Amino acid sequence: MTAGWTKDSWRARKAEQLPDYPDAAALADVEAKLAKYPPLVFAGEARDLTRRLGDAARGDAFLLQGGDCAESFAEFTADNIRDTFRVLLQMAVVLTYAAKKPVVKVGRMAGQFAKPRSAPTEKVGDLELPSYKGDIINEDLPTPQARIPDPARMLQAYLQSAASLNLLRAFATGGYADLHRVASWNLGFTQGSPEAERYGALAARISAALDFADACGVNPGNSAALKGVSFFTSHEALLLQYEQALARLDSTSGRWVAGSGHMIWIGDRTRQLDGAHIEFCRGVLNPLGLKCGPSLAPDELLRLIDRLNPHDEAGRLTLIARVGAGKVEQHLPGWIRAVKRSGRTVLWCCDPMHGNTIKSDTGYKTRPFDRVLQETREFFAVCKAEGAYPGGVHFEMTGQNVTECLGGMHNLAEADLHSRYHTACDPRLNASQALELAFLLAEELEESAAAPRAEAI
Ligand code: PEP
Ligand code: CO
Repeated sequence: MTAGWTKDSWRARKAEQLPDYPDAAALADVEAKLAKYPPLVFAGEARDLTRRLGDAARGDAFLLQGGDCAESFAEFTADNIRDTFRVLLQMAVVLTYAAKKPVVKVGRMAGQFAKPRSAPTEKVGDLELPSYKGDIINEDLPTPQARIPDPARMLQAYLQSAASLNLLRAFATGGYADLHRVASWNLGFTQGSPEAERYGALAARISAALDFADACGVNPGNSAALKGVSFFTSHEALLLQYEQALARLDSTSGRWVAGSGHMIWIGDRTRQLDGAHIEFCRGVLNPLGLKCGPSLAPDELLRLIDRLNPHDEAGRLTLIARVGAGKVEQHLPGWIRAVKRSGRTVLWCCDPMHGNTIKSDTGYKTRPFDRVLQETREFFAVCKAEGAYPGGVHFEMTGQNVTECLGGMHNLAEADLHSRYHTACDPRLNASQALELAFLLAEELEESAAAPRAEAI
């Protein structure tokens, strides 16, 4: 048990970004309901993920984390879940092949609903409205009524998360993710497109290797790793009323677990050392992510590490750097050096999305593919120069053929953005761009796999 922590000790702290619910009785009613519902994940799964992330922190695995910026009630379909899962699987295959290490697969899925916003209000046309905060809090429609926080939305988010997780578990272990189907995961892509061809060639090599393994007696019947995958969920632990209501005591360890998802992370806007979000997260046993933006000073980072991972457990804490292309050199070395000096174990991960958001001339929030790639490459280069292991990547992406990020090999242009711009919040890489990025990233990983092993910190 963490000293001085209770599941509601965050309530005595200053909380950024939480909604003001106008109806306190309705909120209390929802919290009481959720507190009786089954948790979505169990402590043993969270511990298993911590162990795998510990491998990544030591340089023996690689983290692939990705999915929607914000899941939405309207876009909730089996096809959407399958398509995002499928592209993550494809990316993981590409990265595993290149890194020659296990890839830990974590979706921004089945719980990624609540959004921090830079400003409390936003302009929609000529209207100034309270900001949309994600479907778990309010509604995206451009009316003042829709923007009032409604606690009943938490129940819907819980049910959607439960159904999504159920399907993801079925896909992961029920045959869909059998490595023998590696070629069939390509069917969502336009046949003949460069990324589909490149993936097809890799899938053929893997299938040949599987035939060889089969001939040697290694098959899905006797090797679980060929039959399915381990897949985990994650989201930003922003809406603390929801998180508290789903916190459960783990009878095995006597510790508390966030039952809302396997891994939770703390956003760049809510990482105040004495704030409510750090307070809640420090007390649950789940692996934690901490978003590290440009305003984070190295000594502050060390204090946060002390607070979130006082016993220096490998895999407990993933630092997700998100500073923007061209700025990695300015921020990451200071953080890495401070962590090295303190002798702490963290997993270094790169989010090349949130520092690279721009407004297009046509008014859309977008991200240029080149900037995303550039920040990822800078991250690898700085880690290498500083002797740290670049252990993971964190993307906003979807399995759909959306037009939200510029560039990529299909050269998506500003004039294309309007055609399929569906995101509930930030622009996501579409399936082709995500797979292309995985191939480009694979080149970096191949290089590090060939190089003598960097000292993992
Ligand atoms: C996010 O991951 O969607 C997000 C808001 O990130 P950050 O806290 O890094 O801005
Ligand atoms: Co986002």
